[in-house]
Amino acid sequence: MTEVAHVSSLTKDDEEAGESDGGIRRHRNSRASEPAPHYLHRPVSDRQVRLSVVVPTRNEAENIPTLLSRLGGAVAALGAEIIFVDDSDDDTVDVLARHATDAPVTVRLLHRPPSARAGGLSGAVLHGARHARGEWVMVMDADLQHPPESAGRLADIAMRHDVDVVIGTRYAGEGSTEGLGGAAREATSSWATRLAKSLFPRRLTTISDPMSGLFAFRRAAVDLDGMNPIGFKVLLELVVRHPGARVAEVAYEMAHRHAGRSKASAREGLTFLRHLGRLRSRRLVGQMRERPAAARDRLPELIRMVAFGLVGLTGLVVNTAALWFFYEPANLHHLLGAALATQLSTAWNFVLVDLLIYRRTRQGSRAGRASRFFLLNNLLLLLLRLPVLQALVWAGVGILTSNALTLAALFLVRFLINDRVIYSPGSTARRDPVRMLVSLRAPEAAATPSRKRYQYLAYRYDVAGVVTIGSQIMLPELEFFRAQWVADSDVDIAVRVSDVGGRGPQRRAAMTEYANESVLRYEEHLGRLGANFRIQLGSPIDIQVGPLLARSPHVVYTNIIEALLRFVLVSRGHMLLHSACVNLNGVGVMLSALTDTGKTATVLRLLRDHGGHFLSDDMTLIGPDGVATCFPKPLTISAHTLRAVQAQDLTPAEWRRLQFQSRLHSKGGRSLALTLSRFNVPIMGINAITQRLIPPPKYSVDRLVPCRIGTSTRVEELFIIERGTPRISELGADETLERMIQNTDDAYGFPPFRYLAPAITIDGQGYAQLRQREREILAAFLSHVRSRVLASDRFGWADEIPNLLRTERRGLPTEQQVLLPTWPSWPGALAPSGARA
Ligand code: GDD
Ligand code: MN
Repeated sequence: MTEVAHVSSLTKDDEEAGESDGGIRRHRNSRASEPAPHYLHRPVSDRQVRLSVVVPTRNEAENIPTLLSRLGGAVAALGAEIIFVDDSDDDTVDVLARHATDAPVTVRLLHRPPSARAGGLSGAVLHGARHARGEWVMVMDADLQHPPESAGRLADIAMRHDVDVVIGTRYAGEGSTEGLGGAAREATSSWATRLAKSLFPRRLTTISDPMSGLFAFRRAAVDLDGMNPIGFKVLLELVVRHPGARVAEVAYEMAHRHAGRSKASAREGLTFLRHLGRLRSRRLVGQMRERPAAARDRLPELIRMVAFGLVGLTGLVVNTAALWFFYEPANLHHLLGAALATQLSTAWNFVLVDLLIYRRTRQGSRAGRASRFFLLNNLLLLLLRLPVLQALVWAGVGILTSNALTLAALFLVRFLINDRVIYSPGSTARRDPVRMLVSLRAPEAAATPSRKRYQYLAYRYDVAGVVTIGSQIMLPELEFFRAQWVADSDVDIAVRVSDVGGRGPQRRAAMTEYANESVLRYEEHLGRLGANFRIQLGSPIDIQVGPLLARSPHVVYTNIIEALLRFVLVSRGHMLLHSACVNLNGVGVMLSALTDTGKTATVLRLLRDHGGHFLSDDMTLIGPDGVATCFPKPLTISAHTLRAVQAQDLTPAEWRRLQFQSRLHSKGGRSLALTLSRFNVPIMGINAITQRLIPPPKYSVDRLVPCRIGTSTRVEELFIIERGTPRISELGADETLERMIQNTDDAYGFPPFRYLAPAITIDGQGYAQLRQREREILAAFLSHVRSRVLASDRFGWADEIPNLLRTERRGLPTEQQVLLPTWPSWPGALAPSGARA
């Protein structure tokens, strides 16, 4: 399709490369004996290979020297090998052999003789990918239209991010189609993209350039044997067949072909259409086969079918009446009349079906559903039905009767298509709704702010002497660490209110990363009104939040600041561990649990009944030396928790409010928000507004129970508390580590963390390195701690833990000797261990 402009390059070999389905099947069967690319040059061992760059070539001899020298330099640092899969008839092979030895990376070559060129370009790519040794595979063209430097950056970004497929796009951000060469080519390319996107509206929804020839994928996330592309569009096949793959895009500028000529042809255009048709029909068949597996899902399906039938009956009346009108008084040809009547009854059916039958399960926009409904129904009702209708009319059956008969005959097919395709709840594997884009260019000059705002950071915090924060909005979670003495120039993280993002609304939320500037921008649907933010990862880390977010400091803190704080802490040798911590008679005790087990109530009861010192309830600051430092955020409580400890100090109004609050901010509320976040909705905005209207029930600990706050403690005991048959069991070091990591990850499950985290770099350390460092800190910390699982079926942890400690530690000194030198420390005073020098 994109290739129509290049009619002239059709040659004998295109016939072979163009391939028929029969050829593909041959090719599939021959996979076992498929030859492997041989080595032209192997400077490093294969074990060091992390990235395989697959380059399909066909008569690219003139481009090889430049490609090899530029690409070699661009991917050498990534542990790359380059695999050429060559279908040339010129001297590409000789040129490759001559130049490969100068490359800093491994170069492999597979030359396919004319008889073995199955699948053309796509076949070549898959063949190369099957022999890749790297964890990541990147595919690119040999003609330097994909600048090797950009490709190298793309691979680097891909390997750092937590995604499965990374696409080089010419259609988003600063990407450009400049290099396509010619308006005709640009137009066909953009129409082909539109056509593909309209055929796969859901699967291609966050992908701006599904036709790209430059992309990378994680080998483990892709089932190469399940792919069967023809022609040029391997990526299209890949993303359609892997709906759950997490996708990011990198905007790059396409260059002009360096030398030689494009292998695209009118024939490729036809192959593309055939490929599209085949992909679409396979998918349709797949959807139709997805029948409910469980018996209990079949009854609702039956009910829907009956309802659909009833709606269909009313539609039949509408259709018949309309046909009569068009045929008799309006005197139109009966086929035209039937076609028009179908439009009316389809509209009628759509409204009823959409409103009545699928009211609760429908997804996406009404316009989107309507267009699919019309498209599919028209295809069926007109293409399939009209010929039969005509045949019946010729056979002497009355027009209205024929019409009704054919409509009724199609009932079951229509129902299945509606039920399983248009209104299917969608497979559980669905793409992230947020568009992720990395730009290789500088961010556009910051728009002149619509209002002038002051820059002064009114609220200063010093988090345990390790990280300092300055903010224009008050951060209730950090109030304990309030430290107005921190100088403006000393803050590690600055939070300011500012206009972020474009003026106009957009159809999806987007996370844009400017790789050169370490800038990240998250924008939601509502333009500047949305819950947008922008992070510049420098020193200081600059966070700008839009006005909507600024009004919901809880959201800003939990979803943005704490995530960054976590990694700044890691870079300074500490970890923010999801756990609670108290000091009981001198013993540092840590508690960990899944949400809603009863951790907070246990902490409160330990404090009230056993005179413990409070250090933390949600996140604890720990170090490799086994010491925990307090992190006393206000506690999020439920009415239930409070009843357990009979908090005296709350006012009646606060109690009343708590009933609502705890319902909304419960586990159920959170999981609803999480579910919502999988759809295309402005989730941060919804969250911000909800929290603004009904703030989460947060109270500082000593309003709930009388207690003291401890500053730091050596942790000796870790209890993972669970509900269930009472038991206590030791937990091995490895398993404890895994559980605590898992549990901490769960605490950060809410978007936009998963889009934000992979882009984080602090002091030159990327996300993967920081995660590794965090793991080491935790492992070292846990080596000082005894870990046990404590299950109880009557919320008895707060009694059992002190009991255990008492019996096990009889005779030991129970003085508060463990509380370490205290923080806060004024500048110049002795800093606590592990703090900044
Ligand atoms: N092995 C092999 N076999 N390689 C081939 C074949 C083939 O049959 N046909 C083309 N290639 C190689 C070319 O040598 C080049 O390295 C690369 O595939 C792209 O071929 P071009 O001839 O330069 O194609 P294009 O520039 O028209 O198309 C590119 O852009 C399209 C988007 O506009 C490709 O990247 C397409 O995949 C992409 O869709
Ligand atoms: Mn090209």
